[in-house]
Amino acid sequence: VDSQQQQLIQLHEKAAEVYHHMLVNTAVGQEALDYLHQRGLDDDLIEEFNIGFAPNQRDFLVRVFQNESLDSKAFPESGLFVERENEELVDRFYQRIMFPIRNFQGKTVGFSGRFFATEDVNEQDQPKYLNSPETTLFNKREILFNFDKARSSIRKDGTVYLFEGFMDVLAAYRSGMTNGIASMGTSLTNEQITSISRIAQELALCYDGDQAGVDATNRAISHLQETSRLDLSVVSVPENLDPDEYVKKYGQEAFVKLLEHGKETVFLFKMRYRRLNKNMANEKEQLEYVQELLHDLLDVDSLIEQDRYLTQLSTEFQISRESLQQQLRDLKRQNR
Ligand code: GTP
Ligand code: MN
Ligand code: MN
Ligand code: MN
Ligand code: MN
Repeated sequence: VDSQQQQLIQLHEKAAEVYHHMLVNTAVGQEALDYLHQRGLDDDLIEEFNIGFAPNQRDFLVRVFQNESLDSKAFPESGLFVERENEELVDRFYQRIMFPIRNFQGKTVGFSGRFFATEDVNEQDQPKYLNSPETTLFNKREILFNFDKARSSIRKDGTVYLFEGFMDVLAAYRSGMTNGIASMGTSLTNEQITSISRIAQELALCYDGDQAGVDATNRAISHLQETSRLDLSVVSVPENLDPDEYVKKYGQEAFVKLLEHGKETVFLFKMRYRRLNKNMANEKEQLEYVQELLHDLLDVDSLIEQDRYLTQLSTEFQISRESLQQQLRDLKRQNR
């Protein structure tokens, strides 16, 4: 790590400390702190993840840094500020709950800020989450939220849980499931998959239960199957809930049970997913469905599993096992 990187890390550690202080020790952060408590984050967790609050003041961090006599040459490239036309620097993050993003060594290298609406500050055009921009320190293709803390439990059980959001990772963490991670609100990259594969054998996808979540799950499965040998499974959160909302509604115990015993195979997920937008009373769409699933069966390595699903399809659609098997063989040949 060169000295320029050191300097940028130092700015981020300082910023995290200041934001955290604003959240837990000041009147300005009180409303945000109440909100986090009400969402189920207790003080220990807020402490452990060094969560903070960036007040609604565009020169807040600029001023703090100036008073600390930090080297201002590094400010522009830190990503913590944006430059106005007159070259004046202002804070990038304001009126946001701040989640420090740590690299694999546990150093803070960026932030994700969740907009916090209050009675007097309620801008509709604000994105819900705002992330640090790409910097020499903060590479979104590589970063995984909570990977540094999760690493030892991932190694121990061999399993990693992949969530969509930070709040979901934190909901799992406080339920005792410390092997949860999330990407930066984007789909997984090859770099991230490589890092995960180094320490995990099994990856459980636990995205939001809404349509966007199941679509993302389906895409992630394809990508993971193409680029890794990870043993994949899917945890489906019911009622369109996301994992954090599930914990709130059904409690931590039920959630742990869902994560540990609610994993389904990729193929069973496909069976449900592929019928979502089909009219299964329509003969043509039914046959399309079977055809699609036979394609999916090509990705099932276990013969026992394949055998079982062939039986299931045969029974459900009254197609002979022999035809299904023959079709599968043909597909296999074409795919070679
Ligand atoms: P909460 O509302 O706080 O529970 O957040 P959530 O994690 O449930 O948010 P959501 O399911 O909408 O989005 C999942 C993840 O996508 C978030 O954790 C973010 O990483 C990312 N994300 C959501 N909204 C935005 C956005 O407006 N901009 C960016 N860059 N990322 C977003
Ligand atoms: Mn503290
Ligand atoms: Mn979502
Ligand atoms: Mn969500
Ligand atoms: Mn949520």
